[in-house]
Amino acid sequence: MRELTPDTITDAVLEQMATTSDPRMREVMASAVKHLHAFARDVNLTPGEWIKGIAFMTAVGKMCTAERQEFVLLSDTLGLSALVNGLHDKTAIEEGTHTSLLGPFYRETSPKLAAGSQIARTVKPGSECVLYGRITDVNGKPLAGATVSIWQTGADGLYDIQESATETDYRGVFTTDADGTYLLRTVKPIGYSIPMDGPVGEMIQAQARHGMRPAHIHFLVGLPGYRELVTALYLRDDPHLADDVVFGSSGDLAVDLDPNDKNCPIKGLPSIRFDMRLSREGAADKTSGRVGTDPAAIMRSAKSGSGQAHAAE
Ligand code: BEZ
Ligand code: FE
Repeated sequence: MRELTPDTITDAVLEQMATTSDPRMREVMASAVKHLHAFARDVNLTPGEWIKGIAFMTAVGKMCTAERQEFVLLSDTLGLSALVNGLHDKTAIEEGTHTSLLGPFYRETSPKLAAGSQIARTVKPGSECVLYGRITDVNGKPLAGATVSIWQTGADGLYDIQESATETDYRGVFTTDADGTYLLRTVKPIGYSIPMDGPVGEMIQAQARHGMRPAHIHFLVGLPGYRELVTALYLRDDPHLADDVVFGSSGDLAVDLDPNDKNCPIKGLPSIRFDMRLSREGAADKTSGRVGTDPAAIMRSAKSGSGQAHAAE
């Protein structure tokens, strides 16, 4: 029998896993084992640190519910979600607007609203603004009938679902007109802290990081024949634009609040214009799904044991 040593254990594991019938699973798991072992060797992982890591992952798992996904938050704060987004962008057949994190606060159930509607239930004086833009293909052709789902925090920096399990606020689904334009009223978004009351928050504090996301508004845009777009706009004047704790912000998604935009369809309010370009759908897009999902969908797939949080991977 071969004696296993720290130098030979990796090959022994890879040999044993080589019987995996699914070729993609074989590839992903072999790479994961190689990198995991390399990491342990690199830091000379001690037994105490190994158990501490397992206790941390256990605490992360215990924090997960149908409303909260602490594993996604961990992935976000380690830059893994942004990396997967960037890799996903590269698989598009055309270069549309870049993706940004879906985040944990997207909900499949959001009210369909008429163009120009206000998405906030209460609007503090001076905070109201107009949000509009054009959805086009990559050549600038307007796309009519696209579905534009929008969600953001209120004036207190919290999403509706952090405050109430039942009341929908600061979100809505709009449809583009013949000119490809979507139009709504909202309130100026503010920067906010990610949830800091769990193990990920403890990690962020231990690393002396600020935990802040710059002010942003989320978008999910869909139209048959086009690749679904998950992105966000970021306010350029936010002090955390360049050091977002989840690495979602980027210069090409930064916009300004304009106090006097002459082209804005609704006059008398400051406005934000955010245009988006959709790539045509490639053969892989029908099965690639979006980057991210509603936490409830992850819970459903974990319960069924399928490991498939949405229709496709
Ligand atoms: C968000 O933008 O909603 C978000 C993204 C990642 C972690 C926490 C919040
Ligand atoms: Fe957000």
